[in-house]
Amino acid sequence: MNILAVGDVVGIIGVDKLKSELPKIISKNNIDFVIVNGENAAEGMGLTEKLYKEILKLNVNVVTMGNHTWAKKDIFNFIDDKQIVRPANYPKNVPGKGYRIFECKGKKIAVMNFIGRVTMNILSENPFLMAKDIISNLKREVDIIVIDFHRRSNS
Ligand SMILES: [Fe+2]
Repeated sequence: MNILAVGDVVGIIGVDKLKSELPKIISKNNIDFVIVNGENAAEGMGLTEKLYKEILKLNVNVVTMGNHTWAKKDIFNFIDDKQIVRPANYPKNVPGKGYRIFECKGKKIAVMNFIGRVTMNILSENPFLMAKDIISNLKREVDIIVIDFHRRSNS
């Protein structure tokens, strides 16, 4: 199983680059499953439904988000779509899902998203404790767990 995770696609230049390069990378490396961080795709902050759909058309399985999840109001039109995850360590009842389970080549893959709390200025739950809880349940259910931990550090 070859899984490709692409870091932040920033702005229309990033989306255009993804369009030109991703198909080549997928075929050259026999990629089976593609994860793209899309939270900066719309003018560097947030994601629109139009760009989300354009990214998915490139054989992307899941789009992850981060601290700019809510930067464009458009997000509320598609945050419950089955191919997008936002940070799992937002407080309870926030729209969307922090992880989703996908099937690929007979395997179940969970893709999770978290944000850090250092220099992020976003109120969030402790990502490590939440990840531990979620993983302890998920590991009985899935074969592979991938985490996009969207964070910064002081160093
Ligand atoms: Fe970010």
